[in-house]
Amino acid sequence: MGRRVSNDADSLVEAFRARTGRQPTGVWAAPGRVNLIGEHTDYNDGYVMPFALEQRVLIASAPRDDGSWSVTSLNTGSTETFSAADLEPGMAGWQAYVAGVVWALQEAAHSVAGADLVLNSDVPEGAGLSSSAALECAVLTALADLNELQIAGLERAKLARRSENVFVGAPTGLMDQAASTLCTAGHALFFDCRTDAAEQVLFDTTSAGLEILVLDTKTPHALVDSEYAARRASCEEAAALLGVPALRDITDLDAAVDQLPDPVIKRRVRHVVTENARVLEAVNVLRAGAIADLAPLLDASHESMRDDFEITVPQVDLAVQTARACGALGARMTGGGFGGCIIALVEVGKAEQIGRAIAESFTAAGYAPPAHFTAVPSAGAQRLQ
Ligand code: GLA
Repeated sequence: MGRRVSNDADSLVEAFRARTGRQPTGVWAAPGRVNLIGEHTDYNDGYVMPFALEQRVLIASAPRDDGSWSVTSLNTGSTETFSAADLEPGMAGWQAYVAGVVWALQEAAHSVAGADLVLNSDVPEGAGLSSSAALECAVLTALADLNELQIAGLERAKLARRSENVFVGAPTGLMDQAASTLCTAGHALFFDCRTDAAEQVLFDTTSAGLEILVLDTKTPHALVDSEYAARRASCEEAAALLGVPALRDITDLDAAVDQLPDPVIKRRVRHVVTENARVLEAVNVLRAGAIADLAPLLDASHESMRDDFEITVPQVDLAVQTARACGALGARMTGGGFGGCIIALVEVGKAEQIGRAIAESFTAAGYAPPAHFTAVPSAGAQRLQ
């Protein structure tokens, strides 16, 4: 099983002291996420159901009096410093995720003083587990506290998303930042991306004798940005052609598909409409405490992403197929697609064996070795010290 990098608050306090020669005011954390079900539905005003991981970004921070922000990443081993004059959308590098949050707060008329920040993350990067949303939400939580800003959880998620959309330039929906901010331990978050209604749904896999295996296919996903934007554009085009505000509003799928001219766009719409319906079914399954009944929904979601939305890649399909062949109850890709992770619903004690079988199938196919761990539904962004 993949070993977790040590990422605790005390070690970060030590690192902060070593870097700045003083004590941090506090330590804050925000997690990565997996999405249980509801993919590419968020920007269609639809439904999602992610849960937060125990893997998270930690930040130790204290104010500075020269009005600049100095950020050290223990992951890259580098320190970047910027001031208010540097806060221009389009900034390059990992520091854009930090600077973007300062920018979004200031744009929303919050006053943000300079600060030293030291951060460390054990959320795998580029794996579709929302390492960037975790970073944005950790920075936001730290800066909100340091500056005594009264900002409710949902508004925090929206500010973090705005920094990602406008400052970093990635046209994502709200799911990742909502998950990192609003999730609670032991629950999945049922979130309505139109009304912002959020429900914490009990997700106690252990008492059902089950667990969620997360397998990172480690696929280089070069196409993710352009293909993500293309999927989003197709959905918007379809909604315009159908005369609805968003694909969420389609009530008769067959009639909608009949009206559309192009077979590709028909498939895109079918994915979004059926995926929204699967989230609603999944919520009912969890409310009834019947976790094993998620399995066919996970399988159907994967098939829809593979055949209709066309966002899977051969490594992801092989991982899902092998997981099922080796006894997983159900499995699907999670996240934006074109690589990244799959999740599989497995009986307790089977995760290691299934993870190893997938690794063997990757070796046989000539793919790079994957990594895996079991997911623990964890708390959203918070102050630790
Ligand atoms: C990425 C985006 C999210 C969402 C998913 C797909 O994670 O950041 O907003 O669209 O892809 O469900």
